[in-house]
Amino acid sequence: MDGCDKAERINGVFSLQELEAARDRVHEAFPGTPQYAWPLLAERVGAEVWVKHENHTPTGAFKVRGGLIHVARLARDGTAPNGLISATRGNHGQSLAYAGRRFGVPVTIVVPHGNSTEKNAAMQALGARLIEHGADFDAARLQAMRLAKEQGLWFAPSFHPDLVLGVATWALEMFQATPPLDALYVPIGLGSGICGAIRTRDLLGLGTEIVGVQSAHAPAYARSLAEGRPVHLDSADTMADGLAVRIPDPDALAIIRDGVARIVTVTDDEVAGAVRAYWTDTHNLAEGAGAAPLAALLKERGLQSARRVGVVLCGGNIDLALFQRWVLSFQSWEGVTPVMTGEPPPSSADP
Ligand SMILES: Cc1ncc(COP(=O)(O)O)c(C=O)c1O
Repeated sequence: MDGCDKAERINGVFSLQELEAARDRVHEAFPGTPQYAWPLLAERVGAEVWVKHENHTPTGAFKVRGGLIHVARLARDGTAPNGLISATRGNHGQSLAYAGRRFGVPVTIVVPHGNSTEKNAAMQALGARLIEHGADFDAARLQAMRLAKEQGLWFAPSFHPDLVLGVATWALEMFQATPPLDALYVPIGLGSGICGAIRTRDLLGLGTEIVGVQSAHAPAYARSLAEGRPVHLDSADTMADGLAVRIPDPDALAIIRDGVARIVTVTDDEVAGAVRAYWTDTHNLAEGAGAAPLAALLKERGLQSARRVGVVLCGGNIDLALFQRWVLSFQSWEGVTPVMTGEPPPSSADP
């Protein structure tokens, strides 16, 4: 079975009424997430900075909103009687597993070998059957499609109108809860998050400029826009695993091309700096993809000076080992006392 009836639906995208209904359905599962203007981030950036806290959803990432809408529809229509299967690096899988448990749909997730052990454990704890296959996401995805045919499972893709509609609900909450934003920084993996934000901005008639953010190590959409044709990459080697996409989705590319002000790319080092900034300035945990929008804003702070800007902290599911490397062991903080992980710090005269 194939989950892609998207061609005719994605072009029309969704109406405000459908978006509000999706928001209400998401709120049956959890009460939306907060958005705060953090003063230390404002000082760091030189602008008013609003953070949308998608790290506080029940799966620690914005993806759960899309899973809830997609699986609710499958359950309502009886389209996945044997369950569904998908491939993921983690947050999409947690989203489907969470929604599958809520709506009684069995979920199988295929992950590449070497995937985050913590994300794997979280998916299994939510009741998903986990299969490891292949060296990267694309190999896992092909295996998931094969197993869908063999086992009569619904193949849930990573870009689908239901997912765009569902994840757009964070943008609706944010636009309605903050004063008008001059700009909003949104990450791009396969593109459901930014397509939802663009459509929501347009439905609400806002002038907010939406800035796409990609990893400099996986810039498929940035290069596609620059070259005026879909660019397929050979590798997508970034620690921001939610952004590790090699092949852009054509529907997403069209929406992004028409709706973004520009795409900014950020290196893993810049992302690591933003993870540290979230930690010191807000004491929130961000995973790489979750901190990428702040990394891009920090890179563009000259452009955004004295404006009102939004960033989505779209995921907090960072592995302990990477958090240790990027934050706890980091030795040369600018203006911040380093955390000593080896020798104890020299004793001080203070009590
Ligand atoms: C935390 C996080 N941020 C960003 C993305 C990219 O989202 P999208 O594929 O909707 O562009 C993902 C994708 O899984 C993610 O998990």
